[in-house]
Amino acid sequence: MASSSTQKRVIGAEHVTDAHGRGLLQIEVLPGDIVTALARESAARLGVKLLDGPLPKPWVHRTDGATAMRRSLYRRSPRWVAPHAASAARAAKRFSKVALVGAGNVGCTIAQLAAHADISAQITLIDLVPGLAESIALDLNHAAGITRSAAIADGTTDLTHVHGADVVVVTAGRPRTPGMLRSDLIEINRRVIRRVADAIKENAPDAVVIVVTNPLDEMTVEMLNVTGFDRSKVLGMAGTLDSSRFRQALAQAASVACADVEAITLGSHGDEMAPIVSQARIKDRPLGVHLSAASINLSAEQAVAGGAEVVRLRKTGSAFIAPAYATIELLDHLRGARTGSVPVSVMLEGEYGINGVVLGVPCELGEQGLIRVEEITLDDSEKNSLNNAATAIEQRLASLK
Ligand code: NAI
Ligand code: 2OP
Repeated sequence: MASSSTQKRVIGAEHVTDAHGRGLLQIEVLPGDIVTALARESAARLGVKLLDGPLPKPWVHRTDGATAMRRSLYRRSPRWVAPHAASAARAAKRFSKVALVGAGNVGCTIAQLAAHADISAQITLIDLVPGLAESIALDLNHAAGITRSAAIADGTTDLTHVHGADVVVVTAGRPRTPGMLRSDLIEINRRVIRRVADAIKENAPDAVVIVVTNPLDEMTVEMLNVTGFDRSKVLGMAGTLDSSRFRQALAQAASVACADVEAITLGSHGDEMAPIVSQARIKDRPLGVHLSAASINLSAEQAVAGGAEVVRLRKTGSAFIAPAYATIELLDHLRGARTGSVPVSVMLEGEYGINGVVLGVPCELGEQGLIRVEEITLDDSEKNSLNNAATAIEQRLASLK
């Protein structure tokens, strides 16, 4: 890559891979630089940040602690870094077994995507409707003659078959119909979650659980309470979906490709969702460079209302394609196929000044679930939105007791 600041550079995937191999956490993107879509995809996957430059000099070559240590241990020249055998050899894990509780629209679509990507040797679908999970598993296995997927699917009504799963994804429960809020599902779906949580506690005590059932934040709390699992093992999926909707709305507003947009949402999976504008970037520039304040607000509103819009059009259920992809994104983070932080609902223990509430925040995930909550810089209105979301969830849960 040419390095003169007066020369336009094309930053490709190979530069990102090279930077990652050298332990760099970020790449400086100077005005006029062209960053390819593949480079952005690699950067997201490897957790390398693409930062608007020119940066203050200490940032340009900032490295992680492990690299700094290797550099000081093997000091041949100031720039030489000993090879990072572990990261070079790091391969995504293929799960032994993923159990999907709920074989409705979301569960069925997750099963298809998981089989297609061959992320698990066994995919077990479980649903209380007799024959439903079994039929989907058979149908999926029939496709393997074309897809050549090595994953074997099986289906059952028996919740004890979560046994042996590395990850249990829970989509069991009722979806919304037009006019309903997600929170209107709280009473009916908490009974479902309790049954499922009991079975997971009994039969898959070491599994990581991804809750998808709505209302997401409250159902994740229910799963934590009934299983008694450590917070690292119980994750709620919503932030990956809402963030995808936010990025898509921004991309459409700015007439750019989704790959050119970096943006996340935090907070609740509901009206108290917090699209994070201060950190969002289009082509590595702040949103205001490309969009008016009104367009940014509209995109944020579209992210918040995206789920309801699908329900309004569909009338008999809710979205399932984007939610399934958003769940696969979490599974990919758990198995190391994607790195860096990802928005996920977890029980907060003082992070962002909030304690004892499940909320969507950026997290680093690994095979055993939550590794750490990343505390990013938020502006005052974003901090207020997070606090409001926490209060609203607490109030909804308190009203049930
Ligand atoms: P669906 O109605 O198509 O499927 C739900 C399935 O759960 C049904 O097949 C039903 O028989 C099954 N089920 C109900 N109780 C069960 C139990 N005790 N044990 C086993 N299976 C049981 O609904 P869909 O569209 O798949 O949505 C599932 C849930 O996910 C809903 O609550 C929906 O609101 C939620 N959702 C959440 C999203 C998120 O971002 N967190 C995104 C999309 C959906
Ligand atoms: C959604 O946002 C139904 O919560 C689900 O589409």
